[in-house]
Amino acid sequence: MGLAPLWRLRAQDAMDTVLTEATQPAVPVGGEVVQSPPQVRAERAPSRGDAQVLPVSAAPAVMADGMDWDTLEAAIRGCQACALHEKRRQAVPGVGDRQADWLFVGEGPGAEEDQRGEPFVGPAGKLLDAMLAAIGLARGRDVYIANAVKCRPPGNRTPEAGEISTCHPFLERQIELLQPRIIVALGRPAAQTLLGGEVKIGAARGRRFDRNGVPVVVTYHPAYLLRNPQDKAKAWEDLCFARDSIV
Ligand code: URA
Repeated sequence: MGLAPLWRLRAQDAMDTVLTEATQPAVPVGGEVVQSPPQVRAERAPSRGDAQVLPVSAAPAVMADGMDWDTLEAAIRGCQACALHEKRRQAVPGVGDRQADWLFVGEGPGAEEDQRGEPFVGPAGKLLDAMLAAIGLARGRDVYIANAVKCRPPGNRTPEAGEISTCHPFLERQIELLQPRIIVALGRPAAQTLLGGEVKIGAARGRRFDRNGVPVVVTYHPAYLLRNPQDKAKAWEDLCFARDSIV
């Protein structure tokens, strides 16, 4: 019916408009997948052995089992399970359509997110919105956005493995409640918490991971793309691949 080429044209137009450095995308990349620890299955064995076990802290202090959305958000807002709560202005649970097919997971709130209580509202968020628009999506419409950690790491540093694992039950419960059809990991910390192992973005791109039956696709973090605009075309490929990975 010609819909796919039309969609691709529209999406490409949008990407060209908003991501000025994006060039003509390659065909979506094929699916070699890393075998990772529990919950993550691989379609094919890794060729470069890039999956290792993340250092995991002691048993999580956070319990989110069985919570509904509102209880979960309240628990996140009140959480004091790790040191990140000490310097935050507020926790940032997540935002979007609670019945979305798409879940995007970032690293952790930055300064603007800490101030406004919503993920990805700063410069990286503006690029994320543009990336969503480029594939016909919009924040809050069939999209939910969350982070690996819900409180801002001071100075926007990368969250530590212990902070990520302490916060992980919140993300896990968000995924259980949402039951997304596709999860996009934005950057390395998100990929590592979702896949449970050491991840190199360059090696993990183009692979369709399986997390308890939900496909997970890895791409660059928008903040990285702001610093490395030459890779925006690859992010475009990744989002096309994610769309094609929905079963
Ligand atoms: N970067 C992230 O990873 N998450 C946000 O919410 C904002 C910036």
